[in-house]
Amino acid sequence: MEETLAKLDAELVGLTPVKRRVREIAALLLVDRARQKFGLSSSRPTLHMSFTGGPGTGKTTVALRMAEMLHALGYIRKPKVHTVTRDDLVGQFIGHTAPKTKEAIGRAVGGVLFIDEAYYLFRQENERDYGQEVIEILLQEMESERASLVVIFAGYSDRMDTFFSANPGLSSRVAHHIAFDDYTHAELIQIADLMMVAESFRFDDAGRDAFSEYLALRMEQPRFSNARSVRNAIERCRLRQAKRLVELQRPLTKDDLITITKDDVYGSSVFDSAKPQGDGADADETG
Ligand SMILES: Nc1ncnc2c1ncn2[C@@H]1O[C@H](COP(=O)(O)OP(=O)(O)O)[C@@H](O)[C@H]1O
Ligand SMILES: [Mg+2]
Repeated sequence: MEETLAKLDAELVGLTPVKRRVREIAALLLVDRARQKFGLSSSRPTLHMSFTGGPGTGKTTVALRMAEMLHALGYIRKPKVHTVTRDDLVGQFIGHTAPKTKEAIGRAVGGVLFIDEAYYLFRQENERDYGQEVIEILLQEMESERASLVVIFAGYSDRMDTFFSANPGLSSRVAHHIAFDDYTHAELIQIADLMMVAESFRFDDAGRDAFSEYLALRMEQPRFSNARSVRNAIERCRLRQAKRLVELQRPLTKDDLITITKDDVYGSSVFDSAKPQGDGADADETG
């Protein structure tokens, strides 16, 4: 378990409140285990959780570590996360929803069922929506004492609040609410450095300055997705680096191959201030 917690600390920049909450949950479960050893009776702790925050804030990554931790402590049989969204659970026709939901639960059983953008299950305007059926099946599953499944609900925090207030039954079965904040510019730079090292790349000094400028602009544009946008931006820098290197028409050194320069960054259309904002962000997602 210490190994998993150490991995969480090392691989994720920032997220201090999240890491603290994960350690609190770990401590709670460790004590629960110790009490069991002494035969002190108590019911199985409720392990269902909600992870709220914007896209690319690390929810999926932390869910994987959480599954490893719950597995190490013996609360689930396999350290696996099965991720689903509304379309994996809700059927198109009457009678199709229950089998679909049960199949998803079947796949997740013994591990974690991660429901991304969980609020799409609930459509207030439509009483006959099949999403309601999913919620009822989940509720039964979550209430069962012999539950062999941990459910994590994930999504934007404001919509999750609405979802939980409309479904108090679900809400009362969720013991741990963990909030993921958007990253600061400085954290995003650190995340970029971490990702670069992991891929055996580096920025030269001018390249890092350019990337810092890039991020400041990109953060203000639509559809900015925190660490995910950083990962995408690095991939596009690599494309431009490859094009630049091939055009050099000379033998390449190891240094050439690992270095991302300012030209590789400034090639992004995010710097193209002549274009309207929405356009810049679109181009950013494609090249
Ligand atoms: N704090 C962080 N430090 C380093 N990398 C991160 C961090 N948060 C997210 N990432 C990376 O960003 C990407 C998106 O993260 P993910 O967990 O899928 O976010 P979410 O599920 O909230 O959309 C992944 O490649 C992940 O490794
Ligand atoms: Mg995710």
